[in-house]
Amino acid sequence: MSIFAQAVQRQGYTVREAHLEWTIQSTARPVVVIGAGPAGLMTANLLQRADVPCVVLERGTREYIETRPRAGMLEDRSARMLERHGLADRLLTESDTHTACEFRIDGKAHELNYSELSDGRTHFVYPQQEVVTDLLGQYLAGGGDIRFEVSDVELHDHLDEIPSVSWTSSGGTREQLDCSFIAGCDGFHGVSRKSIPAGAVKEFTHQHGIGWLSILAEAPPSTEKVIYALHADGFAGHMLRSSTVSRFYLQVPVGENVDNWPDEKVWTELHKRLALRDSDWTLTEGKIIEKRVLDMRSHVVEPMRYGRLYLLGDAAHIITPMGGKGMNLALNDAEVFADAIASYYNHKSTAGLDDYSAVCLRRVWRAQEFSQWMVDLVHRNEQPFLSRLGHARLQHLIQSREAAASFAQMYVGAN
Ligand code: APR
Repeated sequence: MSIFAQAVQRQGYTVREAHLEWTIQSTARPVVVIGAGPAGLMTANLLQRADVPCVVLERGTREYIETRPRAGMLEDRSARMLERHGLADRLLTESDTHTACEFRIDGKAHELNYSELSDGRTHFVYPQQEVVTDLLGQYLAGGGDIRFEVSDVELHDHLDEIPSVSWTSSGGTREQLDCSFIAGCDGFHGVSRKSIPAGAVKEFTHQHGIGWLSILAEAPPSTEKVIYALHADGFAGHMLRSSTVSRFYLQVPVGENVDNWPDEKVWTELHKRLALRDSDWTLTEGKIIEKRVLDMRSHVVEPMRYGRLYLLGDAAHIITPMGGKGMNLALNDAEVFADAIASYYNHKSTAGLDDYSAVCLRRVWRAQEFSQWMVDLVHRNEQPFLSRLGHARLQHLIQSREAAASFAQMYVGAN
């Protein structure tokens, strides 16, 4: 039993009281984690395992975070990381593993077996809300402290030895907590990144000039592998979520109004862009449960830190859904950060904290480059010359084992 747990037991405190007592008594103040998505909850679980006190603040309800459909693909590397920390039991038993994807061009299908080309590594199709549900369950089972439905979160004194965070609790009381570090895991629209003074960090943004109609339908998958289709009228994608729900994407103009896409038109366009010549393959339709337009943009904050505030996941970087890197980068940031905090708490070393941003950004920029490469690969470009380049690149990927192997390594997260 950890020192911390002994203190709790000896004092007969609840975890929350013990946090405060610990803070006062032992000057080891908690880490405050803002946001309970994959980045925040992975961080909280790893800190808990390292006996580092932490408090998670989440503006949504438990039900909201456990049911919000977002990403759905875990790299082999992320699944192994979750397994290493004892957080993958349900993932490894309930997820579907995938070894290949399919490119469709000129009405023909081309399978790319990325597992074969990456020493047997696979993808795990496991919806983000299931990852969040597992991480939250583990954290609470370990006595973790999380406050749901908080509002007006504010960060104070980032550059001080003792920063603090204040918020309004679900009960309406204004609370404030001195802490050792703040983990900003509250996404692109959260308060953490916005609390950094203008100019104190660099922000790199790229608008891809592409819109995506994102569709979630209660349709059983019409494929066993993810499909990327390059069509004269634009990209179409058939992603996998579960045996009863599928995610589809259609390339549309930037700023497109979702009202221009009644369900019938959506299915007509999907049938057309995913169609195969000389094949009896058909697309199974179903009730569309979510439809929204995404403007494809990418964003990176450098460094991913300001004083004692560390940015993780979408709070530090936004990446296009091409290649399914968003959730995987968030989990990677969490492991690098938690390792750094653990060595600070347990060995008084700041090396990991000092290197955190550089270590994460290496992976972030590699993923950004790969995601951009895939965007150019399968999207119709306003400039016919650039569209032809995408066509040529896809032909090369299909015909060259070396090109396919390089794709496979990046796609499955092998490097
Ligand atoms: N106060 C408290 N919580 C907040 C605040 C706030 N001001 N703002 C946002 N949050 C919470 C959100 O409700 C959400 O639960 O922060 C959490 C952020 O979670 P995500 O958006 O899932 O971000 P992250 O953990 O970085 O995961 C990134 O999520 O969206 C996908 O594609 C993305 O896969 C990537 C992954």
